[in-house]
Amino acid sequence: MKKNANIKSCLQPMPKVLISCRGKNGEDNALAVAYCGNCSFDPPMVMVGIVPSRYSYHMIKETGCFVLNLVGKDYQKEFDYLGSESRRDGDKLAKMNIKTAQGEKVNAPILTDCPVNAECTVVDSIMTGSHEMFIGKIECIHVDDGLLDENGDIDFSKIDLL
Ligand SMILES: Cc1cc2nc3c(=O)[nH]c(=O)nc-3n(C[C@H](O)[C@H](O)[C@H](O)COP(=O)(O)O)c2cc1C
Repeated sequence: MKKNANIKSCLQPMPKVLISCRGKNGEDNALAVAYCGNCSFDPPMVMVGIVPSRYSYHMIKETGCFVLNLVGKDYQKEFDYLGSESRRDGDKLAKMNIKTAQGEKVNAPILTDCPVNAECTVVDSIMTGSHEMFIGKIECIHVDDGLLDENGDIDFSKIDLL
């Protein structure tokens, strides 16, 4: 016999990614995000859900782009920090010595210690409730050496994701 459960986020497991972004004043930042997913195969697109009270929310609104970084298990400490502290209290990337590089196609930083970085342009967004879902068209993807198969696809079996 089934029973009604409390209504919460029921889709599991949730992804754990880091979204990096830049404000129009040039400030860089990143936050942990679990509300995200693939939303188009062709063109390749992802959606990421950001709560309007996050400092990053306004940065993404302003510049209309972000980088979705897949996170390895070796980055747990950084992930937890970026997911619990806010940029409004100081430069989180500097505090954690997080290495970045300029995005090739978008005005946002890449977290270079993450194995996969997808540069995205926001093409649409919808306020779903607590989160605004930003639809990001993937402009290009950077992948660590040795993680591509012979077809140029990412070999996810070689990545120990969080
Ligand atoms: C596991 C985990 C998942 C999270 N998922 C989301 C999410 O999907 N959307 C969101 O807006 N915040 C999410 N957060 C919270 C933000 O990462 C957190 O509030 C962060 O401190 C915001 O940083 P900012 O104010 O510098 O933008 C998550 C945090 C953790 C630890």
